[in-house]
Amino acid sequence: MLALTVLPGKPQSITLEDVPAPPPSDGAVLVRALALGICGTDREIISGDYGTAPPGERRLIIGHESLGRVEEAPEGSHLKRGDLVVGIVRRPDPVPCPACAAGEWDMCRNGRYTERGIKARNGYGSEHFRVEPEFTLKLNPAMSELGVLMEPTSIVAKAWEQCLRIGDRGAAWRPRTALITGAGPIGLLAAMIGVQQGLDVHVYDRNTEGAKPTLTRDLGATYHTGGFPDLGKLAPDIVMECTGAAPVVEQTMGNAAAAGIVCLAGVSGTGHEITFDVGGFNRAMVLDNQTVFGSVNANHRHYAAAAAALASADRDWLSRLITRRVPLSRWREAFERRDDDIKVVLDFSDALDSPAH
Ligand code: BGC
Repeated sequence: MLALTVLPGKPQSITLEDVPAPPPSDGAVLVRALALGICGTDREIISGDYGTAPPGERRLIIGHESLGRVEEAPEGSHLKRGDLVVGIVRRPDPVPCPACAAGEWDMCRNGRYTERGIKARNGYGSEHFRVEPEFTLKLNPAMSELGVLMEPTSIVAKAWEQCLRIGDRGAAWRPRTALITGAGPIGLLAAMIGVQQGLDVHVYDRNTEGAKPTLTRDLGATYHTGGFPDLGKLAPDIVMECTGAAPVVEQTMGNAAAAGIVCLAGVSGTGHEITFDVGGFNRAMVLDNQTVFGSVNANHRHYAAAAAALASADRDWLSRLITRRVPLSRWREAFERRDDDIKVVLDFSDALDSPAH
């Protein structure tokens, strides 16, 4: 079968190649891939900055934003042939640490977790893949091709959950205003959940025109571009930082409202040194009871929240997040960066019909 592989650590080694069928050790559910979402993490892996191959192997099949249809499922599982499914990304560490033992692999304490298509496990970027039933989510068939948005939505569902849990430390804390930095897929899905929660949502992005401002306004949120919004005036109770861009991260830190929460949800590259007023930051944090925290990955609870958020969202709005669908035969184009891209999806439905076995 065809799979997208990289040699981790070797820049631009990505290729589409013939690989053996997925081994039964990957899981008892055999899935035919329909689509694969591409994200910044995939680009980082392709540039050689991130990602590790499975133990004893040189190459890694990439892809973690999956969507597929079940071809074989074990008798008595919650799945049957024909179900629309998504595979969960992370697997608990083998120890397991207390968090992983409790099913909270997204909060792993020893860093020995693995991730499909990212860290020490082959991903979902192949014509067929296998998954363990307990890491396979069955989608409502009505989601159809929008199911590929499940994984990125699970990431923001977790970020929102964590913000609200942190906010609960103040008995009377009720968020009213949220600022989302970055109008990529993560930022826009975060804004969508903020609006669903009845917040006054503001989105900041450097794009001055195109789909991003329109999608933001169509949500009922306010789009900011050009200069960074005046946070003194906006007084956001929650800031969700989804760019990972060092200068934007710096603008958010310690600049929320009193008792405000800044969630760092975008991953930065290292080595971006900037001058930062640690004293001023400390004063704001302490005197205003502010919090800055990081959030990554998602567990079952967050996938369930993501499914609920996607089900109550406007389908047309969601489909406009997918700005390009690239057939597998032209896979290289999916990894090109274009100014007006939001979510780019590789379409596996034109894949050659090579057998899974
Ligand atoms: C994925 C997460 C993963 C993270 C770190 C993100 O792109 O969506 O599932 O935990 O990268 O590897």
